[in-house]
Amino acid sequence: MTRILHRTNNQPLSGTIEVPGDKSISHRSIMFGALAEGTTTVRNFLMGEDCLSTMECFKKLGVDITIDEDLVTINGKGIQGLKEPIEVIDVGNSGTTARLMLGILSGLPFYTVIQGDESIGRRPMKRVVAPLREMGAIIHGRNNGEYTPLSIIGNPLSGITYKLPVASAQVKSAILLAGLHAEGETVVIEPEKSRNHTEKMIEYFGGKIHSEGQVIRLNGNQTFTGRDVYVPGDISSAAFFLVAAAIVPGSKVTIENVGLNPTRTGIIEVLEKMGANIVVELNDSTFEPIGTVTVEYSELQGIEIGGDLIPKLIDEIPIIALLATQCKGETIIKDASELKVKETNRIDAVVDSLKKLGASIEGTDDGMMIKGSSNLIGAEVSSLGDHRIGMMLGVASYLTNSPITLHNDEAVAISYPTFFEHLQKLIENN
Ligand code: S3P
Repeated sequence: MTRILHRTNNQPLSGTIEVPGDKSISHRSIMFGALAEGTTTVRNFLMGEDCLSTMECFKKLGVDITIDEDLVTINGKGIQGLKEPIEVIDVGNSGTTARLMLGILSGLPFYTVIQGDESIGRRPMKRVVAPLREMGAIIHGRNNGEYTPLSIIGNPLSGITYKLPVASAQVKSAILLAGLHAEGETVVIEPEKSRNHTEKMIEYFGGKIHSEGQVIRLNGNQTFTGRDVYVPGDISSAAFFLVAAAIVPGSKVTIENVGLNPTRTGIIEVLEKMGANIVVELNDSTFEPIGTVTVEYSELQGIEIGGDLIPKLIDEIPIIALLATQCKGETIIKDASELKVKETNRIDAVVDSLKKLGASIEGTDDGMMIKGSSNLIGAEVSSLGDHRIGMMLGVASYLTNSPITLHNDEAVAISYPTFFEHLQKLIENN
């Protein structure tokens, strides 16, 4: 669908909102609920397309999952309780589902085929398939297992010690999940720390895992017990409004109940370094840290972003690029070549779309360089089927001198089905 976006009467954004549940934690709540023995309940589950794909996959594997308004209930039968599906496992647009499912299914005694949409068919899977094969997995796919469809013939696994070539929580999680039914110890060593939701959930569901810096160890033959999970708001979704408030003159926005896991809060560090007026309050830290973040408009300065900060904000780079167009001076984003293998090639997608809006931005081999501050102009653009590109362009429309025509706006439903309503609500609050 196509949407015409423009801010009326130059109104600022103001008010308090909650964003939907965290995508990474929602996926894992279904996975661990299914692998556990007994009942798991999940509140504030993200009803976005990616997480619903994970839910459908586990239903096909014989897990009983029900939704009653805001409450998801999973009746887990233990790791060995999953059943061979009679259909292909469809992961839709979700890379997290594809990669973590490979880890879960490799050691189970049956045959499965994993398939996704056209974007999934272009995303690299060898990064997961190669270490799983080292553990004993039998996986076949296009280009020797690089691309879906992938078929898995369950096989007994053995633990390995694996040094990740890239900081990827998906690869780390796939190996750890396979390690749960492997013989002996599995050790994963990360080059930089990536999001640690899998490790936290293993502990929360009663499993044993040992993390020391960038080295994570676990033993096979673990059992999990069903738990009640509250999914915090997704900081990656909140990022769109935090940035909007920072760059639309006169704005002030508060996000409540948002996840503040330090492996995810790179966007807050960036806003602080740029000189944003931002207040962070930690409210609760039982399972995952949760808090409140308020951002108020102020003048901002460009910065350099790279190194171990990148995994903490990898999904926020499209909106950080827009943020940089409104900073004084130059912003350089480097060490982020992983952007090329996201839902789209996000270096190209961000650079091409922001250029159309009149930004001064150039792509590099591992990131981008942005010169600010720019007056943006309305143009015809597309999400290219990438939810985060669509939402970045939605925020951009609050800065352009004329409307933005956004094609493929429905992509936002992957992680934030109510994104445009929430953006509108923050204007109506004035
Ligand atoms: C995710 C990990 C990240 C992130 C993705 C979700 C996860 O991917 O970009 O949106 O839930 O583990 P990589 O592990 O490929 O960096």
